[in-house]
Amino acid sequence: MIDIEKIRKDFPMLEGKSMQGKPLVYLDNAATSFKPYSVIKAVTDYYANYTSNSHRGDYDIAHQVDVMVEDTRKKVADFINSKPTEVVFTSGTSMSINMVAFGYGMKFLKSGDEILLTQAEHASNVLPWFKVAEMTGAQINYIPLDKEGRLTPENLAKVISSKTKIVAVAHVTNVLGFVVDIKEIAKIAHAQGAILVCDGAQSVPHMKTNVKDWDVDFLSFSGHKMLGPTGIGVLYGKFSLLEKMDPFMTGGGQTAKFDMCGDVNFLAPPIKFEAGTQNLAGIAGLGAAIDYLTNIGMDNIEEYERNLKRYAVEKLAEADNVIVYNPHSEAGIVTFNIKDVFAQDAASFFNSRGVAVRSGQHCAKILIDFLHVVSTCRASFYFYNTKAEIDAFVEAARHGGDFLDAYL
Ligand code: ALA
Repeated sequence: MIDIEKIRKDFPMLEGKSMQGKPLVYLDNAATSFKPYSVIKAVTDYYANYTSNSHRGDYDIAHQVDVMVEDTRKKVADFINSKPTEVVFTSGTSMSINMVAFGYGMKFLKSGDEILLTQAEHASNVLPWFKVAEMTGAQINYIPLDKEGRLTPENLAKVISSKTKIVAVAHVTNVLGFVVDIKEIAKIAHAQGAILVCDGAQSVPHMKTNVKDWDVDFLSFSGHKMLGPTGIGVLYGKFSLLEKMDPFMTGGGQTAKFDMCGDVNFLAPPIKFEAGTQNLAGIAGLGAAIDYLTNIGMDNIEEYERNLKRYAVEKLAEADNVIVYNPHSEAGIVTFNIKDVFAQDAASFFNSRGVAVRSGQHCAKILIDFLHVVSTCRASFYFYNTKAEIDAFVEAARHGGDFLDAYL
């Protein structure tokens, strides 16, 4: 059970903030989430009380940082059901996927191989593959979506072949919010000898993650969408694959030795991939975020958000000026337009009512050919949102046609 009143007191951004003189209703959680005090404290604690570098110093406060980093790695591993050695700290989902594309794809793909994506992917799970395909001669193809925009195992089975070496898909898509049956997708990919690279940016913050059970080969996610700081993220990879792939970035802290002839011995994963000083305050904050989420319970969070989504869709159905593009998707994301109103104008109107939603193409720029609209608005929920906030959002949506009067 979510104790919403108690939870909301944990977030400074939920304490009496306003926008345009109206109580702030923040419904852009798919872009980034608010942070509880415990996360902010973990970050400031690092800066105020034990600032030093990790894995380099032979003094007490440096040891404290080393312990904090490795404790957080263990927390992340427990949170996603992996081993700590399979958890690489990155700056976020984009960097994690680039690491796989350039570290694995560049090394193992060749001309004639195929990378399968979907049209619903975020730019971070498209653009690195475009580049790798260009450089290796591999071919990008798309798994067709069903008529609502969902990736189904059946559709993957129809198009996958022995040429397919990588299937790269989001577990939850950032615009339509469908939850993909990732375990089935992994089975089908593996049966053809392909690996599954999963973008977990919109799933890991909102539901229980179990990389072992799902049998995904790589999983990427960002700290800032799950109550953590910006600039910290994770790449999970099966240890055997991390051992095989090359580091995308090289620099301090990741080698056992290198010599003047250019012979380099990298340390074992995950350190092999963590060149340079890491985002140590970010790691501290991510650890506190995981503690917070674990304490609430990922199943509780998932159930609460699904209820909010259902409630929002029901309420919006009563407003005859609103088109919802994903009424049946599971995640707490509602993508919509106000009839005859350009999405950015609608978002500005919502702003005038204190309601924060995102508008545009949401970094999923090839999805517009599927939706047949140039842009949409997106409201995305987290477990600290309330039905009263959804009511305020729906009330604003009903008046969305008045956008020209918004700032008079
Ligand atoms: N990836 C984030 C979003 O979908 C920024 O809004």
